[in-house]
This record gives sequence, C-alpha cells and structure tokens, in this order.
Amino acid sequence: MASHDDILNKVMAHYTVDTSTIEEENRILKETVANMKEELSKFHRTPLLVAEVKDMIEKNALLKLNNGNEFFVEVASACEPLYPGDTVLVEQKSLTVVKKIDAQRKFNVEKFVIVEKPEVAWSEIGGLTKQAEEIREVIELPLKKPELFKKIGIQPPKGILLYGPPGTGKTLLAKAVATATNSTFIEIVGSELVQKFIGEGSKLVKEIFELARKKAPSIIFIDEIDAIAATRIEIGTSGEREVQRTFMQLLAEIDGFKPLGNVKIVGCTNRRDILDVAITRPGRLDRLIRIDAPNEEGIKEIFKIHSKYMKIEKGTEIDRLVKQMKGFSGAEIRASCTEAGYFAIRDNRTTIKQKDFLRAIVKVKEEIKEDGEDYLNMFG
Ligand SMILES: Nc1ncnc2c1ncn2[C@@H]1O[C@H](COP(=O)(O)OP(=O)(O)O)[C@@H](O)[C@H]1O
Ligand SMILES: [Mg+2]
Repeated sequence: MASHDDILNKVMAHYTVDTSTIEEENRILKETVANMKEELSKFHRTPLLVAEVKDMIEKNALLKLNNGNEFFVEVASACEPLYPGDTVLVEQKSLTVVKKIDAQRKFNVEKFVIVEKPEVAWSEIGGLTKQAEEIREVIELPLKKPELFKKIGIQPPKGILLYGPPGTGKTLLAKAVATATNSTFIEIVGSELVQKFIGEGSKLVKEIFELARKKAPSIIFIDEIDAIAATRIEIGTSGEREVQRTFMQLLAEIDGFKPLGNVKIVGCTNRRDILDVAITRPGRLDRLIRIDAPNEEGIKEIFKIHSKYMKIEKGTEIDRLVKQMKGFSGAEIRASCTEAGYFAIRDNRTTIKQKDFLRAIVKVKEEIKEDGEDYLNMFG
C-alpha cells in the first residue's frame, strides 16, 4: 500500500509539470503579443525622409532635402559618422538623422538617356542644303580638324540651336552630323528632364556631360530645350525652382567646357519665342540655325527620298503631287508616302498609283486640320 508521502510526491510532481507547461505557454503568448505589437507599430510609424548631407558642423548636420530646402539638424547617437555627400534617412518631424544609407545616388545615366551611334546619311535629308552646310562647318569641321582651328587661332562654337516648326528635319540633321563625325549621340528631351526626373534634373545634366566627355567625340542633343530654358516671369513653386536649377546646371556645364573639347551641343526647339536669351549668349549655343518647312524644290527632294523604294506607276505626275503637298513638313511628306502605300495594299496592289498618293495627301491634310482644331480647342 502506498504511503502517505508517496501520494503527496505524486501529486506534487503532477503540479510541477503542469506549471512548467503553463509557464511555457505563457511565454509563447507573450512573444506573440510582442511580435504583433511590433508589426502594429510599423503601421503607425511615419516613413523616413531621404536627404543629403551638405556639411557637418560639429555633431550636427546641414541637410538638403529633395525639394531643395536645407536644415540644420541633430544626428542620432547610434548613427555612424557622416560626411558631406552622404545619403541619410531622417525623421519626418524633427529631421533627426537616424541612419546613413548606402544609396549610391549616382544613377546609371545611360538608363535614362538615349545613347546611340546613329546612321543617317546627309543624302537622306531633303532640302536644307544651306543649313546642313552651316552645321558641317560649325560642328563637323572642328571635330574632324581641331588643329586647323588652333592654327587659325579661333574657337569653334560649343553648340548650335536649331529652331523651327516640328517635323522639318532638326533631329535628322543632328543625327547626320553625329554620323559624319562618328560621334556618340546622346539624346535628352527637355520636357522629360523636367517631368520625370523631379529633384534630379541638375544631377542628370551633370552626369550627361560627364558621359559625353567619356564617350567623346559626342553630340548632346537636347530636344525641346525650351522646357528647361524658357523665360520665366516669376519663379514661385518648387517645381519651377527645380527647372531653374536644371537650367543653371546646363549653363554651367556649357560654360565649363574646355574650348576645344570634342563634345558639342545641339539644342532644338519649335518655341524660339519663349527661349531664355541666356542660352544663346556668345560662348553658349550661339549659332542659331532656322529650319523651315521645305519649299517646292525641297518637297520634291524629300518625296524622292521617302518614295525611293516604292514601285510607282509610270506616268505618275510627281510635280502635281509636289504642288498638292505645299506647306507639308518632311514628316508629313513621309506620312503621305506611307499612306499611299496602305491604299495600294488595301487594293491588293504592289504598284502605287497617282490616285493613292492623292488620297494619301488628302488624308494627311485632314489630320493636320484636326490637329490644328484640337490645338485651338485647348484654348476653348
Ligand atoms: N528635310 C527632311 N528630309 C527628309 N526627311 C525628313 C525631313 N524632315 C523630316 N523628315 C522625316 O520626318 C521625320 C521626323 O523629322 P525630325 O527630324 O524628327 O523633325 P524635327 O526634329 O524637326 O521635329 C524624319 O525621321 C524623316 O523621316
Ligand atoms: Mg525632333
């Protein structure tokens, strides 16, 4: 028979096991609660801001935020030593620096701009003989014969500005001169620089010029330059300030060039009227070349270029078509050829007839008219 003590021991043992299991369970539950609290607090936390350290003044930092504002702030004691140029995370309210991040803010420019070796022959450009000559003299000659300019003792222009209505061959000319000089063609679009790279525009400009120097001879082609270089009556919003900064950086890069550097700039605009004169001052893009819609002779040349590989029915009166295309830009002449081809395709033919061209020209004209109306409607 079990003794009294035996029974007591058994009962005690039973309870001991029980408490330890309960304690274990309790511990797990506590941990779960802590984890959930932690998760929950993540939802409450405000996101940290990214800023750049401009300077360190003893233990404090002078920070620059993306919007351009600068602040003098505290640095958390746990934060590693900071140096100007570092990228840091800061608390939204106090702007205390919490952490240094290893963001190499130097982004890969080649991802953002079009860099290519174009292949456009001068013979692919109709009309514009005078303009092509001038571009060759100002860009091609100095790139090909820099010693000539040294000998004569003059400095060739750093860049040119092509201006005139859209679709008239400005991009084409720039590509042709890049082809002729075997230059790297770096294309940026002013409006994209302003819209897509908010806060980064001036940095991007700087790096584009760096890239151009590295890949020289280069041509930096700035399409829609008016988007960065427009005269502004007042600079109010931070967006406008940002554009202004990008523009200032562009001017600084142009001014900073070594005079005989083989990086050339071709700016392009169809809004010369709104352009800030600072960009065309002597020593900057000081050669202004006007690119107009072609005259009759030009239209004929451009038509021949774009219909070169088309099988055109004998007896087609080219001169009549040319007259019908009066006022067309190069791009519209090309569109007329393409449309004529489509009319033939729809008619199961491979030879293009005069009537295809005539119908195509009417269609292109209608599109121009509609675009014009849309444009006018924008102004109510
Ligand atoms: N003078 C021209 N000669 C031949 N083709 C032209 C000419 N102008 C325009 N084009 C055609 O129209 C297209 C668009 O022209 P583009 O050079 O981009 O005009 P822009 O830069 O002046 O707006 C060209 O790729 C080309 O096919
Ligand atoms: Mg263009």
